[in-house]
Amino acid sequence: MNAWKKLKDYKRKFRPDLKKLFESDPDRAKTFSVKTPHVYFDFSRQLIDEKAFKYLIDLANKKELGKKIKAMFSGEKINVTEGRAVLHTALRSDTLPEVKAVLNRIKLFSEEVLSGKRTGITGKKLKNIISIGIGGSYLGPDYLATALRPYAQAGMNLIFIANIDATDFYEKIRGVDPEETLIIVVSKTFTTAETMHNARTAKKWFKNDPEAIKKHFAAVSTAREKVEAFGINPENMFGFWDWVGGRFSATSAVGALPLSIYLGFENFKKILEGAHWMDKHFQSEPFEKNIPVLSALLDIWNINFMGYKTRALLPYSQGLAKLPAHTQQVEMESNGKSIDINGKPVKLDTGEIVFGEPGTNGQHSFYQLIHQGTQIIPCDFIGFIKPQYYTDYDPETGVTHQEELMTNFFAQPDALAFGKEDKNLAKNFPGNRPSSSLLLEILDPFTAGLLLAWTEHRAAVKGFIWGINSFDQFGVELGKKLGVKVREEILKHHNDPSYRTGSELINIFFNGKLLG
Ligand code: F6P
Repeated sequence: MNAWKKLKDYKRKFRPDLKKLFESDPDRAKTFSVKTPHVYFDFSRQLIDEKAFKYLIDLANKKELGKKIKAMFSGEKINVTEGRAVLHTALRSDTLPEVKAVLNRIKLFSEEVLSGKRTGITGKKLKNIISIGIGGSYLGPDYLATALRPYAQAGMNLIFIANIDATDFYEKIRGVDPEETLIIVVSKTFTTAETMHNARTAKKWFKNDPEAIKKHFAAVSTAREKVEAFGINPENMFGFWDWVGGRFSATSAVGALPLSIYLGFENFKKILEGAHWMDKHFQSEPFEKNIPVLSALLDIWNINFMGYKTRALLPYSQGLAKLPAHTQQVEMESNGKSIDINGKPVKLDTGEIVFGEPGTNGQHSFYQLIHQGTQIIPCDFIGFIKPQYYTDYDPETGVTHQEELMTNFFAQPDALAFGKEDKNLAKNFPGNRPSSSLLLEILDPFTAGLLLAWTEHRAAVKGFIWGINSFDQFGVELGKKLGVKVREEILKHHNDPSYRTGSELINIFFNGKLLG
């Protein structure tokens, strides 16, 4: 029988009850967990038993997951629609000379900025880094920067401008002295409308002075000629390659340049080491002990067999505030596909909706629905043994901030799994709601890199099993193209203020006011 059907049939009969599953197996927490030196993964509160687990592993084998992982690491052109390899793992494996060469230049550049050898046009030290980029040229680096704020070099600021809304630009440069600022334009293609418009606005901030632009602008891109045509000094350009997808580019120069200046090059190298550790784990551990593979198989169980299509990512760490946003792009841009790798419509559900907020903030907001709503939302909890900031015991509760935070990290999965009966149904907690927990030692450059790679590989595994291409993103194109048409309409209106379009919505915009 095929592995998919076996799981379907099993699910039809299977009535998982977490209370009973834990009662009948005192070792359940040990059976359904993975212990490594850097991360502990507990998936005992997922709605599976040994059989379902075995069938999921069978599914991975039947879908030749091992072969597909190998093909990715070995540089086969698995991004078939774009004819590209998918080799972001090579960015942290210290093997390719071209990767090493770019990193060496970034090391030098970042040291020169930090030591004050490389200054702005008026000789002032560059202490503000403004990274202009969007999507994958922003979300991964922003996640890492936010996670690692305590590691920032003294006096350094890293600011991200992504949105074309001028509010993003002008709010972010408020109080920032351009003489002390380095602008990094980050764009794989160097054509992305938002990024190029923001970059031109940044040029204006420097009065379009070519000498100032030479000193204050750097670029990260695969498109050398476009960078030069824009007026950025080619010596300040750092490249990467078409085998690095945008949303997988945080460990390329996209993240390396801003983060090496902000955190120091050694800290960026530790990010690479953490990602590399996870790459090795992913490549070499058997599926039964492989954290990204198991995370993905459990997602597939929840999405395709249990019918739970939304997942909450709940880091009990303020530093991980931007991990959900980054994960959204990695998951939803990669796996929001309905055509398979052979160009045929898929016959199963792919992709999942990911959302999340750091605990405990989310608890005071959307957890109501997670605990008592009619939809079941599988949750991922992430916590750390040690805090980034140590505090004394609170005189009232007797515990530290970290201990109080972690009381929630431990309590919430149990509340979801086991619930609490109450005759007053409004106060009843049904329980049996699935979750996994990741426990790490401390949020530092190494673990931030490890979590980045976990996120990447988890999405890739799902794509491999669903048989879709997780590495293209044609679904973002149509909206962009129509936007260009609307821009033409706006230009017509500039030429002739009486010009009106067929769209009432746009005509109201031309009117400049809602009524009259
Ligand atoms: O619009 C989607 C997208 O192409 C993403 O895949 C990418 O991360 C982002 O735009 C930015 O692209 P670029 O780095 O070329 O500016």
